[in-house]
Amino acid sequence: MLTQQENEFLTQTNRGTPMGELFRRYWQPFLLKEELPVNDGDPVRVRLLGEDLIAFRDTEGKVGLIQEACPHRGASLYYGLNRDCGIMCIYHGWKYDVDGNCVDMPSDMPGSSFKEKVHLTSYPTLESAGAIWAYLGPADKQPPPPSYWMNLLPEDEVVANRTPIYCNYLQSMEGNLDSTHLGTLHHFYDNEIPEDQEYDKPGHPSRRFSNFITGTEKYARIDVQDTDYGYRLIAVRKTPKGNQHVRINCLALPVMSWIASQRGLGGILTQLPIDDHNCMRIGFRVRPGQPFTEEERQAIREERRALFDPMDPKLRLKRMDNEFLQDRDAQRSVHPPGIMPIAEQDYCVTETMGAIMDRTKEHLYHGDAAIVRLRQMLAKAARNLQEGIEPPGVQGEIPYHKIRSEDIVIGPDDDPWLVAADAGETATRGQRLR
Ligand code: FES
Ligand SMILES: [Fe+2]
Repeated sequence: MLTQQENEFLTQTNRGTPMGELFRRYWQPFLLKEELPVNDGDPVRVRLLGEDLIAFRDTEGKVGLIQEACPHRGASLYYGLNRDCGIMCIYHGWKYDVDGNCVDMPSDMPGSSFKEKVHLTSYPTLESAGAIWAYLGPADKQPPPPSYWMNLLPEDEVVANRTPIYCNYLQSMEGNLDSTHLGTLHHFYDNEIPEDQEYDKPGHPSRRFSNFITGTEKYARIDVQDTDYGYRLIAVRKTPKGNQHVRINCLALPVMSWIASQRGLGGILTQLPIDDHNCMRIGFRVRPGQPFTEEERQAIREERRALFDPMDPKLRLKRMDNEFLQDRDAQRSVHPPGIMPIAEQDYCVTETMGAIMDRTKEHLYHGDAAIVRLRQMLAKAARNLQEGIEPPGVQGEIPYHKIRSEDIVIGPDDDPWLVAADAGETATRGQRLR
């Protein structure tokens, strides 16, 4: 349980708030590359950390991320004309380049140099891992480019996707780092059939066996290990033969998480605040050494399109105002939530908490240890920054590319932390953020 004040401290991310300033010290993915497919194409509206912005790809292919309101008299530049290395406001023709300079003011007096005095807010961007990333922090503190696993792989071995989530970023993040909901929210009644028992031995289990364990052994021992980038979260469940089923998730501050999966191949997610009531999830799927073919990408695109409202493709199809199209028959016979696919199950539980969950009313139990630690770490990093202590990783000192999640069976007496050490890299057990 948090006080109202603590809850506000963690959930408010507009400019000038401690958490907002922490977020602004990291490169964050905010758009897919394919959303700005061509030079001089249509601009896209982007709202990030409470700021209304537009993104556009200029004549040379450079991506600009600039304030939406024209500095002249505030008309929206979203409607502007993107041409000849800049975007022109349709009101009086002032034109801006990707760096925020006013490069043309055709309606100004002949001979005037007023345009040289006009600048708008613009943020540096870069393209990596199928996404466009932005840095919204102070110019002299810009970190080196992101270097997570997906950033270092060839682009054709990565697929990125983007999803709006209609609630505060924190409850969505807490869901990514909550290993105990697996056996309920993501359970299928069929998982209880004890198939694939030959995988009850040290090694990587079949997905079927892994689901059998999480679906029948509802209790998981949760343990959290601090690392220099955030933490690793271990969930250990007993198998019928007395082995240990170990799932490892990782968190890199402030909002990157690795979903537990074999050798880390299951996905890396980030939850960037759009504003305090909405966030966006950008997910990365990696397949090292096995490029995705164009057919596979097309199939993924189509699958994703079906998740959005045909009447308004910016909106998710399943959402609170249509009760997530829950199927009560499926709930009785197929899976407890009666909602598919899996990610939509998560959106249902996190969005129904309210736009900003009231954490003064919660009742946490042992299974929430990683959630408590997440809040402590975020708050600590934000407070540190207020005192001038740099957040972790912003000086390029952390080998982020080595972070891996895991999903594995180990022997009854094996130490799960040794598996974690293999999956991870730089951490020393017990190391704390200072
Ligand atoms: S409001 Fe944009 S040019 Fe006048
Ligand atoms: Fe989930």
